[in-house]
Amino acid sequence: MKLYDALVKFGFCAHEANVLPELEFFSLHSSVRVLPIEFFKLVLGRHLKYSPALFNSESDTLDEVEEAMLATYCKRACLRDGQTVLDLGCGWGSLSLYIAKNFPNCKVTSVSSSAKQKKLIEDECRRMEYSNVSVLTSDINYFEANASFDRIFSIQMFEHMKNYEKLLYKISTWMHSDSLLFIDIFCHKMFAYHFEMHGHLFFVLPADNLLLYFQSHVSIEDHWNVNGKHYSKTSEEWLKRMDANVEKLEPLFHEIYGSEAGKWWVYWRTFFIAVTELFVYNDGEEWMVSNYLFKKK
Ligand SMILES: C[S@@+](CC[C@H](N)C(=O)[O-])C[C@H]1O[C@@H](n2cnc3c(N)ncnc32)[C@H](O)[C@@H]1O
Repeated sequence: MKLYDALVKFGFCAHEANVLPELEFFSLHSSVRVLPIEFFKLVLGRHLKYSPALFNSESDTLDEVEEAMLATYCKRACLRDGQTVLDLGCGWGSLSLYIAKNFPNCKVTSVSSSAKQKKLIEDECRRMEYSNVSVLTSDINYFEANASFDRIFSIQMFEHMKNYEKLLYKISTWMHSDSLLFIDIFCHKMFAYHFEMHGHLFFVLPADNLLLYFQSHVSIEDHWNVNGKHYSKTSEEWLKRMDANVEKLEPLFHEIYGSEAGKWWVYWRTFFIAVTELFVYNDGEEWMVSNYLFKKK
């Protein structure tokens, strides 16, 4: 157990660091900024959920499984209509827009560091006539909410972060005594480590219990594991769609990556293949997705 603890602590050595390092959008993820929305529209499902989906049956479509996971988040976070919601690291707005539609009296504040993501979410709100979402472009390192929220969600953003103590403290200042914080991450069942590809640090791969070490300002209410096969299948779907749309995507890659288009095509495929294979390993019990519900301490 001591060795295990030491390894976990090694994994979050940046606990010692005094700022949240600029981990986000490193290497592959820098392409999230650069690759236009057309890529994500062709590769992800209808909700543009850039995170694991939940497969209930083999015949489910990607659109259905995205929605199943979004509904699960809301259920696990005990979200009620009329509450105020903060969606931290909202990406292309999958959860924010789901809540806007299904909980029309909720007021959603969505935060991401990408202006392109803000524009897409705002366009979608106009198209769908949602007036209950406000989108802010800000790096979480510098974001200040100046308000408290009934529910705070963060779906697959913590993997881009370090110094969880400081981050959770910051988030706790946006909570009141009845607030709940729901976090979704992918993880290994025991070990936290850096996920690197092609010599670049992509993100932190946390251990399932990593966040539980940081309960100075929030305390755990509930904790779920989602079998890794769900993320594996999600990534396999992304890969299939990327391959099926090669003719539309190739010019896009040339436009963005120029002479390195071929290399980046392989990088993206390698990433999707790595996730597909890693998360199915050991019947999905080795790498998995974990959900946590915290309250303010
Ligand atoms: C894997 S995506 C998940 C997006 C979305 N939550 C979803 O489930 O579709 C990670 C997202 O975290 C957000 N993000 C990463 N680093 C960030 C930072 N430093 N500040 C704010 N948002 C960040 C970006 O919106 C990025 O799209």
